[in-house]
Amino acid sequence: MKEVVMNEEEILDTCKRLGFALGSKLKNEEKLPVFLCVMKGALNFMADLIKQVKTDILCDYIQISSYEGTSSTGKIILKRDIEQDIEGRTVVVVEDVIDLGTTMKYLVEHLKQKNPKRVIVCALFDKKVNRISDVKIDYVGKVLDENKFLVGYGLDYNGLLRNVPYVYIPDEEEIKRLDEKLAK
Ligand code: IMP
Ligand code: MG
Repeated sequence: MKEVVMNEEEILDTCKRLGFALGSKLKNEEKLPVFLCVMKGALNFMADLIKQVKTDILCDYIQISSYEGTSSTGKIILKRDIEQDIEGRTVVVVEDVIDLGTTMKYLVEHLKQKNPKRVIVCALFDKKVNRISDVKIDYVGKVLDENKFLVGYGLDYNGLLRNVPYVYIPDEEEIKRLDEKLAK
């Protein structure tokens, strides 16, 4: 049995709630704010979230990796940097899940070097119990009280399951089945 953590309806409701809040907050910015998607995991969330932001925004994409299998490697690699000039602008970092916090801490520090007006963090999930790096999450979809590995809606297991339209916890049997597929 699949343990669903957020179904399609809940995802839409969450995007509406967060998108409305962010849109209201950012409607009077002097310079256009930038929504920055952390690829690849946050691509689905970014796409649905920005549709709910009813003010003018710029969008950009950054790619970072730190995960392998079902746990973080702790080693952060910046694979693609932001293109947009963010000096004097508010940047909203759109992330799928904050786990140890290491990736977001690195990212916020990286962005602050580019002199933005401020950096706001918006994450679909917050695995608070696992946090080792201190990061402030300004907007969150759902806080998780247990340490569980999530897949679906952009979240992957070694590149698989990003296309599932909802978020769930895979069981050991499914992981075994996926490992067999990946080995082919
Ligand atoms: P952190 O540095 O440990 O906070 O790692 C955050 C990154 O790891 C996120 O950008 C996710 O892409 C990935 N990640 C963390 N937890 C999960 C999970 O449960 N499933 C899939 N990816 C995850
Ligand atoms: Mg990610």
